[in-house]
Amino acid sequence: MTAPVDLPARPAARLPVAILGATGMVGQRMIEQLRDHPWVELVAVAASSRSAGRSYAEATSWRLPGSMPPAVAAMPVRVCAPEAMPPGVRVVLSALDAEVAREIEGAFRAAGFGVITNASAFRADPDVPLVVPEVNPEHLSLLDGQGPGFILANPNCCAVPLAIALAPLHTRWGVEAAVVATWQAVSGAGYPGESAWDMVGNVHPHAGNEEQKLNIEPQKLLGAPGAPADFPVSARCVRVPVADGHLLSVNLRLRGAPALDAVREALLGFGGRCPPLPSSPQPLIVHQPGRDRPSPRFDAGAGAGMAITVGRIEPCPVMGVKFFVLGHNTVRGAAGAAIANLELLLRLGRLRLPAGA
Ligand SMILES: NC(=O)c1ccc[n+]([C@@H]2O[C@H](COP(=O)([O-])OP(=O)(O)OC[C@H]3O[C@@H](n4cnc5c(N)ncnc54)[C@H](OP(=O)(O)O)[C@@H]3O)[C@@H](O)[C@H]2O)c1
Repeated sequence: MTAPVDLPARPAARLPVAILGATGMVGQRMIEQLRDHPWVELVAVAASSRSAGRSYAEATSWRLPGSMPPAVAAMPVRVCAPEAMPPGVRVVLSALDAEVAREIEGAFRAAGFGVITNASAFRADPDVPLVVPEVNPEHLSLLDGQGPGFILANPNCCAVPLAIALAPLHTRWGVEAAVVATWQAVSGAGYPGESAWDMVGNVHPHAGNEEQKLNIEPQKLLGAPGAPADFPVSARCVRVPVADGHLLSVNLRLRGAPALDAVREALLGFGGRCPPLPSSPQPLIVHQPGRDRPSPRFDAGAGAGMAITVGRIEPCPVMGVKFFVLGHNTVRGAAGAAIANLELLLRLGRLRLPAGA
């Protein structure tokens, strides 16, 4: 990994960016996360032709607490096309629907833009880095095979907390196998998301194609660039009537069957592998020792939504060790993950603030 660049706490000029898919659940979180960002300035929003041409306030069902930022409310929604971006924008954050992401994000890359995406369309491509800054910042080297435009992906909303928890254990001992069950919030399915018939007074054991993503993304994150780690993950994903926060039960077999105290120490001592970033919290992993934690209501907001919370670290008679891990799905698992990746690109000198900053 290259040496980090010193960036001013409050530069005179910030990096101008646009959001694609700005009207959706993740797009709204991105707008919220970019309020007063020290290095990044949101200058344009874009969505489908249903929204384009209206003001952001008219086009959007704002689903977050509080009001949308007034400056964004007044912005015109643009179409998601490179030629519709204002002059000076060379980087876009994408919260596009997965169905359309491949074509639109591909067009932006071909036009020379940098695209940081939440969508799954490019995550498995061998030349597209899948990055959580605290886990595998060195994977940005894969960007050298793209260019001048590029696509950088952040993982599935459950793969992020899972990879953060597994990273120190895989480095120290090696993960041999993982069995994962999830209880996933409805905001993870976008807006309006799952039908009320499936979600009210019910749990829904068909969370889209989340299981396939969890079966492959942790290995790409925890392996070397271009060489995924070699361990199986067996995942079962369930949507539950909770607004925000995905809870995962993780059962692990680690090489050498280490003692539980050593596993606990390694897991809780992990602070991440990236240089300090505005969106990367310390502590990165919060421990909740209570028998009834972590739980979404109390723990999804840890570290402004960017920390993960673990609890119930116990011996597993089948696999060796088991614990719960919880992460905020639209913050740590999506919008905040993309913004942290953008901060990492700036911190490692792969993107530069405007001249005079
Ligand atoms: N929600 C999560 O927790 C989460 C976590 C990780 C990753 N993701 C991924 O992030 C992406 C966004 O998720 P979301 O939950 O925010 O979904 P969402 O609420 O359904 O929002 C989808 C966005 O895509 C736009 N869009 C749809 N069709 C379009 C088209 N043909 N052209 C241009 N824009 C179009 C929508 O614009 P209109 O409003 O104009 O229709 C909207 O802005 C998805 O790929 C999802 O898989 C979501």
